Amino acid sequence: MTSMLPRTEVATLDVRTIRADFPVLSRKTASGKTVVYLDNAATSQKPRQVLDAMRTVYEEHNANIHRGVYEFSERTTAAFEGARERVARFINAPEPREVIFVRNATEGVNLVAYAWGRDNIKSGDRIVTSVLEHHSNFVPWQQLAAETGATIAVVGIDEDGRLDRDQLRAELRKGAKLLALTHTSNGLGTINPVREIVAEAKASGATVLVDAAQSVPHLPVDVADIGCDFLVFSGHKMLAPPGSGVVWGRASLLLKMRPFLYGGDMISRVAIDTTTWNELPWKFEAGTSAYVDAIGLGAAVDYLQGVGLEAIHRHELALTGYLLPKLLATDGVVVYGPKDLADRVGVVSFNIEGIHPHDVATIFDSEGVCVRAGHHCNQPLMNRLGTAATTRASFYLYNTFEECDALIAAIGTAKRVFKI
Ligand code: ALA
Repeated sequence: MTSMLPRTEVATLDVRTIRADFPVLSRKTASGKTVVYLDNAATSQKPRQVLDAMRTVYEEHNANIHRGVYEFSERTTAAFEGARERVARFINAPEPREVIFVRNATEGVNLVAYAWGRDNIKSGDRIVTSVLEHHSNFVPWQQLAAETGATIAVVGIDEDGRLDRDQLRAELRKGAKLLALTHTSNGLGTINPVREIVAEAKASGATVLVDAAQSVPHLPVDVADIGCDFLVFSGHKMLAPPGSGVVWGRASLLLKMRPFLYGGDMISRVAIDTTTWNELPWKFEAGTSAYVDAIGLGAAVDYLQGVGLEAIHRHELALTGYLLPKLLATDGVVVYGPKDLADRVGVVSFNIEGIHPHDVATIFDSEGVCVRAGHHCNQPLMNRLGTAATTRASFYLYNTFEECDALIAAIGTAKRVFKI
């Protein structure tokens, strides 16, 4: 995957059939433009199969989970636990009880920072992370360090947006209690070689958390192969509803951790002066879980596996390989992140010189082109790139080459409006 793929190599993905599953993609904007949805790193659209799975719960057997002995409750519980088993298989988790349902990746990182971090990070300990991190995998560690007296080391990147592996090795050699690293960058699309990095980190004695919010939706991800200790992701970026997300953790660590939230469902026995905790995974699922969202996530996993993660990744790379040279050849456009397709996903950040990204995105909107403009919850990365913001296009399995052309045309419109 070191070169640009020719456009013909993507016939494996039947995008026309896939698009027919996503009702929102055939909608027009208020001004009558066909929607060109290129903001998938922010959130994905949802196929009928996911919407139907959720509607089936509400219309056919809705009842609270783990609490009723009547049929509806048992059916909903079975669907919820079935979703857990699907997710476990999807990421090759050794045991379903290692899959904890949370609302999103941010909550997942906070769960680990609280339930593992408060008992394992002490004054003087070192936490290693990177400048590529989304705020969700940076701020919780920054705050934990401030509370405990630990220190944070932030590994940098090269000019192409790839992690500085020498600096990372040097930081690990100094001794790290935790490495908290993203699998793929939501700002630049860089894939970190987490398998190799985790092996290095584990050899140096660090516990490793991988933020897989931007990788699990787009690439085959295998927690056993990666070898990390914790891995988190959000459902809403992978065809599932907001409100669904996952922490995967090694059972040996989860068993020793304190709960994150206290209350219903996470207990075993409550007496006036003491409480014991439920078994895994329910020790970490206090209160009524977002069970319909989790069932939607299970349906999303089925959908993605039906299409195939390798094929999805190849398709997104083909789109990226089509768009990048056009962007690089456009006067006044600055492209950030890796310029070839090696170790990359379909996230393309750029700026048009002389136009603020928010203006770019507003003009794109008038053409029906939906992109994100801003710091992408990546302010340390933006500082490193020397810009306050970028415009970001991000692909998914339903995007087309014509949509790339629409984006290029919208850049022309923006330059004409600003007389650039
Ligand atoms: N984390 C999401 C993004 O990168 C919201 O846009």
